[in-house]
Amino acid sequence: MKQQLRPVGIIGTGKYVPEKILTNSDLEKMVETNDEWIVSRTGIRERHIAAPHEATSDLAYEAALKALDSAGMRAEDLDLIIVATVTPDSTVPSTACILQDKLGAKGAAAFDLSAACSGFVYGLATASGFIQNGMYNNALVIGADTLSRITDYNDRNTCVLFGDGAGAVILGEVPEGRGFQSFDLGAEGSGGSLLNIEAGGSRLPASHQTIEDKKHFLYMNGREVFKFAVRVMGTATERVLTKAGLGKENIDLFVPHQANIRIIQSAMQRLDLPPEKCVINVDKYANTSAASIPLALVEAAEEGRVKEGDTLLMVGFGGGLTWGASVLIW
Ligand SMILES: CC(C)(COP(=O)(O)OP(=O)(O)OC[C@H]1O[C@@H](n2cnc3c(N)ncnc32)[C@H](O)[C@@H]1OP(=O)(O)O)[C@@H](O)C(=O)NCCC(=O)NCCS
Repeated sequence: MKQQLRPVGIIGTGKYVPEKILTNSDLEKMVETNDEWIVSRTGIRERHIAAPHEATSDLAYEAALKALDSAGMRAEDLDLIIVATVTPDSTVPSTACILQDKLGAKGAAAFDLSAACSGFVYGLATASGFIQNGMYNNALVIGADTLSRITDYNDRNTCVLFGDGAGAVILGEVPEGRGFQSFDLGAEGSGGSLLNIEAGGSRLPASHQTIEDKKHFLYMNGREVFKFAVRVMGTATERVLTKAGLGKENIDLFVPHQANIRIIQSAMQRLDLPPEKCVINVDKYANTSAASIPLALVEAAEEGRVKEGDTLLMVGFGGGLTWGASVLIW
């Protein structure tokens, strides 16, 4: 898709994280773990946790307001809302519909997208397709998750890894030569059981037994997911660069999924990237699933790390298993 019909890019950005911070030392009081283990194995120091009254749509709403403001747009002008999430407020209605109502975006189509931590890049690809082919003129794409609601805080294998947050972008037409240059999306459904929630769907509906068996919490085989992550971060990055007709030397800013500092470092090594060309905030937010890449992107933009014409490479991986990468000229 190197030659686009209509160049589509990001014209507004916003982010939100809940106020409450859960530090590694807080977790030391909850499970058998310690700050040294968490920092050396993951790079995480703290994470933000939603307040009891906050659901995913509330986090998404705050990020959306900022994105609309930065694009100089009103909610009424939105054509499409996509919320990438694995922690929707409810199964029905979708979080995107709840958000549409809250924003007053009466003219917008709205749906949720489920691709776990790759969801934001999947959402960008979907929305940019709609705009590129002329069906819509703009879209609000949000990655938002409240993983704290599906995390077992008695399980040290997972509870140290996750946090809550939301990142939002507005997509629209941009000048020729700018915007999305390529996407690489993929899935390996055979690895689905490596990162899953067993109950609560049509296979195993909620029952007293499923609750007793803790089957509504996120289960993860960390070692296998780690291997998958390192592999696909490399292959997806190479493919998406090739599709854009670019090489690794063209990357001005690398925006990887923030799951584990060691996974990010292995990708940086493969790309020969110096630290100043990579966005890392896993230390502050931990893994926020679909919110991870937009939180990193928006934070980098807010810190003035992105200039017009810069080439950005976003890449993520997650449950499904899935991956998604994109090259974007800012
Ligand atoms: C989870 C992860 C950090 C574990 O790191 P690791 O170096 O692979 O650690 P291991 O799995 O080898 O476990 C080492 C030991 O630490 C223990 N351990 C696990 N969590 C711990 C914690 N929070 N504190 C202290 N010890 C812990 C394990 O029980 C294991 O003990 P054992 O050897 O006695 O069985 C790492 O595998 C990872 O990041 N995987 C990918 C996760 C990911 O990205 N998930 C999101 C996908 S979107």
